[in-house]
Amino acid sequence: MEAQTHSGNKILVAYFSWSGNAKTLAGQIARETGGDLFEIKTATPYPGSYSECTGAAKQEQNRNARPALSESVTNMAQYGTIFLCYPNWWGTLPMGVFTFLEACDFSGKTIYPLVTHGGSRFGRSLDDIKRLCPQAVTGEGLSVSDDANPKDNTGVTTPNRELTSWLHRIRNGTVRNKAI
Ligand SMILES: Cc1cc2nc3c(=O)[nH]c(=O)nc-3n(C[C@H](O)[C@H](O)[C@H](O)COP(=O)(O)O)c2cc1C
Repeated sequence: MEAQTHSGNKILVAYFSWSGNAKTLAGQIARETGGDLFEIKTATPYPGSYSECTGAAKQEQNRNARPALSESVTNMAQYGTIFLCYPNWWGTLPMGVFTFLEACDFSGKTIYPLVTHGGSRFGRSLDDIKRLCPQAVTGEGLSVSDDANPKDNTGVTTPNRELTSWLHRIRNGTVRNKAI
């Protein structure tokens, strides 16, 4: 079979999330675009307590670690557009997202980054994405503060309006547009 040199038109919504914010936003993207959800999950889970998790994450960053992931994307070639959703961890991507980005071939694909954060917005993450995936086009990103996941009194998360308008901008081609 001939090697596939082009990207398909499907949308992948890849997310890493420890406390649920990036997961919620990724779910909204998948609903609004019809994209496939994929969780970037480390084989060894992070501790459940905030202070232990931040400590473990800092150590990984200091070691420039590439923690193993428990699953990989099936048939990456079918996707042309990747929404990459992640929390800001110590100023950039969690190290498991480094593992994910280095493992995939992003030639001919567009990555739209979405960061959720406690105040530092993207930090260095956009530069890191571009450095790790030089073959990809990086589209306009969106940063969402971690207090912007409003829940109603039944616990159901309401759609984030900034996210919806970001998707509209991408879809209308006001920012680099592909496949949605
Ligand atoms: C290990 C760790 C490191 C973090 N580092 C930062 C940081 O450097 N800057 C920041 O604004 N928020 C930081 N936060 C806060 C998270 O980015 C924020 O709460 C985010 O919404 C969590 O997303 P999640 O619920 O998908 O895990 C950190 C949180 C954790 C657990």
